[in-house]
Amino acid sequence: MIYLNGKFMPIEEAFIPVLDRGFIFGDGVYEVIPVYSRKPFRLAEHLIRLQHSLDGIRLKNPCSNDEWRNILEQIIANNDGEDQYLYLHITRGVAKRDHAFPANVSPTVFIMSNPLPQPPEELLKTGASAITANDNRWIRCDVKAISLLPNVLLRQLAVDRHALETILIRNQFLTEGAASNIFIVKDKVLLAPPKSNLMLPGITYDVVLELAAANQIPHEIREISETETRMADEILLTSSTKEIMPITLLDNHPVGDGKPGELFRQLHALYQEYKA
Ligand code: PDD
Repeated sequence: MIYLNGKFMPIEEAFIPVLDRGFIFGDGVYEVIPVYSRKPFRLAEHLIRLQHSLDGIRLKNPCSNDEWRNILEQIIANNDGEDQYLYLHITRGVAKRDHAFPANVSPTVFIMSNPLPQPPEELLKTGASAITANDNRWIRCDVKAISLLPNVLLRQLAVDRHALETILIRNQFLTEGAASNIFIVKDKVLLAPPKSNLMLPGITYDVVLELAAANQIPHEIREISETETRMADEILLTSSTKEIMPITLLDNHPVGDGKPGELFRQLHALYQEYKA
């Protein structure tokens, strides 16, 4: 069952007009929220980020946090699986095609839930491969915008080369992945690029840094150069749907000794414990 503009219905019955500004301009924002044991994970934080994205595109939040909680509860209850992921999508609504904002138009609100795939055991054991590419996206990457064409093209580069993710480099510095945040480890210190307009402030990113702080894992938030990324002992990828994954091959070169490292193992275990 999905939610569209105030109504719950089967996805087969959900349609939006072709003049929706999401379809015409990619004029909207979204959230992806994992659900463990039928409970949304870090919902308050996801709703704060949603508000930040809506502010970024000057769109009024169509629901209060209590209303969001209530709708999401119903979606979770009416979809299969203890572990799911919610996709929440808001566009500026349906209007005659004109770039400028339309007056008096209600936003389109769409929510669906899908089963949350478990990260493949094999990849957790061996690690995944990634490639690098120039970060050619706009400079409001902190807004979780539905206009994802650069991310789509960048991610496909990875798929074309049988890799899991594309790691993005802007002006010789690491930003993030095409659909994930990236950490590196050097000399047993976890390094995270600082939040800025050049990356999405990941909810999983925050959890990893909190876990590091609470467990005396040395960590530092600072700019990470491309060279440091290539010389890293470990590279870790985080996202709501992939949790924490080790990257052991970068542009076909082994990362460190080419095996998932000690900090990955530690943080992965802490994350499993935390989400339970
Ligand atoms: N993507 N950076 C980008 C560009 C992302 O698209 C995502 C997540 C992240 C990680 O953020 P979080 O930990 O809050 O999921 C970072 C989601 C999963 C997606 O688009 O499907």
